[in-house]
Amino acid sequence: MRAASCVLDPAAVVAPVRRRTFGSFVEHLGRCVYTGLYEPGHPLADEDGFRTDVLALTRELGVTLVRYPGGNFVSGYRWEDGVGPRERRPRRRDLAWHSIETNEVGIDEFVRWAGKAEVEIMYAVNLGTRGVQEALDVHEYVNHPEGTALSELRRANGAAKPYGITMWCLGNELDGPWQTGHKTAHEYGLLAAATARALRSAEPGLELVACGSSSSSMPTFGSWETTVLEHAYDVVDYVSCHAYYEEVDGDLGSFLASAVDMDHFVDSIVATADSVGARLRSKKKINISFDEWNVWYLSRFQGQEGDDGWPVAPRIIEDEYNVADAVVVGNLLISLLRHSDRVTAACQAQLVNVIAPIRTEPGGPAWRQTIFHPFAKTAALARGSVLHTRLDAPTYATAKHGEVSLVDAVATYDAESGDVVVFAVNRDQSDPVELTVDLHLFDGERRLAEAWTLADDDIRATNTVDEPDRVTLRAAEAVSVDGAALRVVLPPVSWSAVRLEVSR
Ligand code: AHR
Repeated sequence: MRAASCVLDPAAVVAPVRRRTFGSFVEHLGRCVYTGLYEPGHPLADEDGFRTDVLALTRELGVTLVRYPGGNFVSGYRWEDGVGPRERRPRRRDLAWHSIETNEVGIDEFVRWAGKAEVEIMYAVNLGTRGVQEALDVHEYVNHPEGTALSELRRANGAAKPYGITMWCLGNELDGPWQTGHKTAHEYGLLAAATARALRSAEPGLELVACGSSSSSMPTFGSWETTVLEHAYDVVDYVSCHAYYEEVDGDLGSFLASAVDMDHFVDSIVATADSVGARLRSKKKINISFDEWNVWYLSRFQGQEGDDGWPVAPRIIEDEYNVADAVVVGNLLISLLRHSDRVTAACQAQLVNVIAPIRTEPGGPAWRQTIFHPFAKTAALARGSVLHTRLDAPTYATAKHGEVSLVDAVATYDAESGDVVVFAVNRDQSDPVELTVDLHLFDGERRLAEAWTLADDDIRATNTVDEPDRVTLRAAEAVSVDGAALRVVLPPVSWSAVRLEVSR
C-alpha cells in the first residue's frame, strides 16, 4: 500500500479556527428561499412559515454565518420591497435569474429565520443598479436603534431592537459582464470606497467586504483586486473570492485536485492585496472572505431566459451531488482551514436546493446531499488552532493542475480539550493510501476518540428523495494509535476525519 506521512507540532500554529469559515449562502434564486427555507402550508412549517426540518438540518450542518440576499439577485434588488405588510409588497422581475420575486420574504423575515437557525448574517447591498444612498438606507433600517425614519419603520414593522449586522458585502461580482450594473474595476473601486466611507460614518465598527474576482479565470483576475483596493484599501476589511469546481470531460483526476486551485487562488489574492498595502505603506492587512465556493456543474446550466417565461421559484441549479463531489467539498474545506490566517470568513454556495447540501421537496421531505457530510463533520470537529500540516505523500499528474499530492490533509488542535483532529482526503481513484501522523511532539497519552470516512464503491452514488441516506459517513475501519503514531488507511476517493484526545 502506498504511504503518506506528516509530523504535527502543537506549537506550529497557522491561526485560530475561525467560526466564520463555516458560512453558507441564501440567495433569492430558484427554490433556495421559497419552498426551501420558507414554505407556509408545509406540514412542518412553523408560525412564521419556515420549514422546521430545514432549520434542524441547518443547525446540524453547523452553519455559523449566512450571506444574504444574493448573489446576482442582489444587483437588481430593492430591499424596501421586502418590508411591511406582505399584501402590499410588489412582485418584481429578477433579471439575474429571469424569475418573479414575490418579496414574501425580506430582511425582517430573514433575520427571524437566522435567529432560529442560530447563524450570523452577512448582508450584501446592491451596488449594481443602486449606490451609496440605498446602502445607507438599508443600514439605517436594520442597524440604527431608533428615532429616524427608517429605524422607526423597522420598529413599526415589529422589530424594536436593531439587528446589529456587522458584516456587509459591497455588492456582488461586479467584475462579471453578466452582472446587472457590471462595472470596470475603476468604477467599482470608487463606488465601493464611497459606500464604505458612508457606512463607516454611520457605524464605524462594520466589517466591509469589497468584491474581488468572480473566479480565477476572469480576464481581469488580479488586476481587478489591485485597482479596487487602490481605491478602497483603507476603508474595507476584506476582499471576496468566489470559486466553483466541476468535473469536466471526465477528468476526475483534475477535479479531485480542485483544492490545489483554491490554494493558488487564495495565495494569489493575499499576495495581490499585500502588494497594494505595501505600495500604500499601510500596516493594515486585508483578509479574504471566500464567500462563494462549492462544486457546481455550471457547464450543464443553460441559463434561465426563455425557459419558462417568468416563473416564481423555478427549479434551477439543483445539482445532485455524488461521492466524488463530497470528497472535493471536504478537500476545499481543508484548503480554507489551511488558510485560516487570511481567509477569516467563507460561505458555501448555497444552503438549500440551489447547489446545496440540503434538498427539499415542496410539501415533502428535506434530506442531506452527499456534500452535507464533510461540511457538518468539519464544522463540528475543527476547534482551537489550525496546525501547519506538511505532508510527505506520493504525487500524480493532472491535466489542469500539474503534479499534485495524492493525499491532502490539515489538522486542528484544541489545547483546552486536548483534541487533535486530522482531516484528510485520498485522491487516488483505485488504491488506498496509509497516512501516518507523528504526534511525538504532543505530551501525554494519545487516545483515539472517533474516526469517520466518506467513501463508496460507487463514487457516482447520490442521495435522492427516494434514497436520502444512500451516502453517509461511516466509522473508519483501519485506524489505530500506536504510541505516538496515528495510522489511518484512506480508501480510494475518500474524505476522512479522525479525532484523538491527548491527555496530560
Ligand atoms: O451562487 C450562484 C451564483 O454564482 C451567484 O448568484 C453569483 O454571485 C455567482 O455567479
